[in-house]
Amino acid sequence: MKLGIAADHGGFHAKEKLKEFIHTLEGISLVDYGAKEYDALDDYPDFAERIARAVASGEVERGIAICGSGVGASIAANKIDGVRAALICDTYSARQGVEHDDMNIICFGARVFGEELIKEMTKAFLNAKFSGEERHVRRLNKVLALENNNE
Ligand code: RB5
Repeated sequence: MKLGIAADHGGFHAKEKLKEFIHTLEGISLVDYGAKEYDALDDYPDFAERIARAVASGEVERGIAICGSGVGASIAANKIDGVRAALICDTYSARQGVEHDDMNIICFGARVFGEELIKEMTKAFLNAKFSGEERHVRRLNKVLALENNNE
């Protein structure tokens, strides 16, 4: 799978740690959409936009966005059509968010979660597939209709 990752200064160190872990996983090709270096003055929407556009265009299949709380990254990423981003705090939702909701960007709060939990949630996210079950497709289509009805 082609996977993207991005973080502002609040998530920068967690991103670098998580990249080391992702490089140990088989079958994942990782693209880093920044920040490329720590800058205490950078802004989360800039990095959320980069990863969101990469996912929406199909440049990468899925993304990971990290900021201090995970809130700003998820709010900003969801502004881009085609993105289904969520702030995830547990492995159940990391898996089910993909299986039921076709979540394509997982957001983490680096100031909230420990490194091991972030790794576990990442594994659950990457190993999950959208179920394709009729009820989930029906619900996903309703979500897509909401996106297309934006005035
Ligand atoms: C940056 O200080 C912080 O506000 C940002 O990383 C994020 O937590 C926003 O939601």
